[in-house]
Amino acid sequence: MVATLTKTELTLPETEQVEKKIASLKLTGARIPLKLGHSLDKFEKTDATPLIGTEFARGIQVSDWLKAPNADELIRDLAVLVSQRGVVFFREQNITIDEQKKLGTKLGELTGKPASSKLHVHPITEQTSELGDEISVISSERNGRYFSPRADRTQLSAAAWHSDISFEPVPSDYAILKVHTLPSFNGQDTGGDTLWASGYEVYDRLSPSFAKYLETLEAVHEARFFREIAAALGNKLRDGERGSPANVGDHLEAVHPIIRTNPVTGWKSVFVNPNFTRRIVGVTKDESEAILKYLFNLIQLNHDLQVRFKWTKNSIAIWDNRSNYHTATFDYGKEKRVGDRVVSLGERPYFDPASKSRREALGL
Ligand code: SIN
Repeated sequence: MVATLTKTELTLPETEQVEKKIASLKLTGARIPLKLGHSLDKFEKTDATPLIGTEFARGIQVSDWLKAPNADELIRDLAVLVSQRGVVFFREQNITIDEQKKLGTKLGELTGKPASSKLHVHPITEQTSELGDEISVISSERNGRYFSPRADRTQLSAAAWHSDISFEPVPSDYAILKVHTLPSFNGQDTGGDTLWASGYEVYDRLSPSFAKYLETLEAVHEARFFREIAAALGNKLRDGERGSPANVGDHLEAVHPIIRTNPVTGWKSVFVNPNFTRRIVGVTKDESEAILKYLFNLIQLNHDLQVRFKWTKNSIAIWDNRSNYHTATFDYGKEKRVGDRVVSLGERPYFDPASKSRREALGL
């Protein structure tokens, strides 16, 4: 039998040091799945596809929910809905940057995330960012100032599917993106759609024996390309605490289980992505490449587990990064497309052998 490289041999020494440093921290939060309550029943909404995506009717302002007497109940139910449906959309929102940060914080707090998990500070966010450390400005103009592997038009567009910041030891639970400036084509706002895919359904497409095998494995996630991007932008890479005591340093690397349990739904999902996952631990390089390619194909090629959202000015999307992937669409030229994104941090990813798949839990 061929000897394989261990986790220590596959990662940088800094990754091991951080692992040792954070071993004693409580980074997993509550592990008891939550039931969706009834506080959102009176708000009109439609499911965008059977598997993923729900859109609330126009005229509903999520900022009103933050100020309502039963705000905690509404936001908690919203978080559970997002975790169940993968991504939720609202049109024509008046939510401010501060409210967006508050919502990003509360979604996780009300659903049991560890106390040390705050809003993420992206490694390439400039120190003097006008909107503060905790907002990532998604800007086509800024993207044009460096070579982005995500917008590389010499590879298939589907190469950029990802789950936000999975290179961090404590990655994201929820993310909220508000797009306020849209590209236009023939005088109409069009282009720059975003797509999401369900990691729960990717798990449900595996055979039971292959799924069981994957449940024993971990993978290395890494994003050191952000060092070059920070340099190209003239920013110092943010190597201090990025929203959690676990997310420090410039090695931008973490090891996570391939099958992850979402603590809010209790459902299993596949947690690898083409943008950040580099190598499976404990198998040969060729085996790792073959397995990852197959899992990436399940995400990228199954359009029936994806949803595509056509933005209108000031729409917001809220998604659960633990069990879903997303990708931007670079189908526009030099026009401006700008949005503000808040990424909150959840728990350290874990696999609970007692957890169920989505289809199993729903009796499908
Ligand atoms: C993201 O990757 O979070 C941004 C998606 C987009 O710009 O459409």
